[in-house]
Amino acid sequence: MVSLVILMRYSRVSSPESSDLYISSTAVFSMELLKFIICTFYIFSSTNYSLSHTSQLFKDNLINSPKEVLKLSVPSFLYALQNNLLYLALSNLDSASYQVIYQSKILTTALFSVFMLGKKLTVRKWFALFILLFGVILAQTSKSQDTHAKDLDVEDQKKNKLVGTFCVLCAACTSGFSGVYFEMILKGSPKVSLWIRNIQMGLPSLILSLISSLVYDYTPITSYGFFHGYTKLVVLVIVVQAGGGLLVALVVKYADNVMKVFAASFSIVVNAAVSWFFFGFKPDLRFCVGTICVCFSIVVYSGAGGKKKRTVLPLNKV
Ligand code: C5P
Repeated sequence: MVSLVILMRYSRVSSPESSDLYISSTAVFSMELLKFIICTFYIFSSTNYSLSHTSQLFKDNLINSPKEVLKLSVPSFLYALQNNLLYLALSNLDSASYQVIYQSKILTTALFSVFMLGKKLTVRKWFALFILLFGVILAQTSKSQDTHAKDLDVEDQKKNKLVGTFCVLCAACTSGFSGVYFEMILKGSPKVSLWIRNIQMGLPSLILSLISSLVYDYTPITSYGFFHGYTKLVVLVIVVQAGGGLLVALVVKYADNVMKVFAASFSIVVNAAVSWFFFGFKPDLRFCVGTICVCFSIVVYSGAGGKKKRTVLPLNKV
């Protein structure tokens, strides 16, 4: 995920001319398409490459299960929105600040786990969450900038940072809700395979992302072409993002959402180090203290559980 954020940010700012820049909504569609193809191929191989068996599975789980597809269209829609917000945020924020602010998804994930899964949070866990918030705010208000941000004039820089921060905070909400919702569905019906669930969730995303790119970017798509500006770097971003999405689904299935955000949080430090090395990111004291607080809170939170108790609502309560 660290490499993804850095690659995405670089792909948005590295084009010499703005007209050379790829249309980000088409990249979201391409990523959804790639995930759909990978899941379809996995299901196809699990049926010993039987076309009739695969098409029967698709018929049973898509056409004959509209209720299930409808349930999964909720996180599907929210993830599609989140992926678009991510592109917008990374056009306006440096990748290290983005990563730190996005860690507020630990808070949203915990809150949605409490409300939707009935998870109990101890005082120590809440304490950890507030240290996290403190760390995030510290890092957000630091004067750390990367080289690309310096190219913008002061007014634009302020405005863009605000838009970027807002997008990341919205994405943190959709991330927390969608992750917990997907976990509830997966663990509430363990007999349905993860790959089928991914297909059920991927189909609405695929349709939605195609519609949104045609609605919002009709003019550039018809003038320059759907795959305009797709360099090797853009293709790499799409591949890494699709692989990351499938990994998230695997982690949620075999662990849980809190473990997922905990693991992802290590990426802040790595991201800051890589940004410093490659993009001239200069973390100031405030950013460093903020990052330390974020990391510390993760350690406190993850060690705060004691006996782990997870309550998953049955599927009929989704
Ligand atoms: O940041 P966060 O962990 O919420 O990112 C989740 C990412 O994983 C999203 O890009 C989403 O599209 C992807 N995902 C997926 N398949 C799932 C669950 C999440 O591709 N089953």
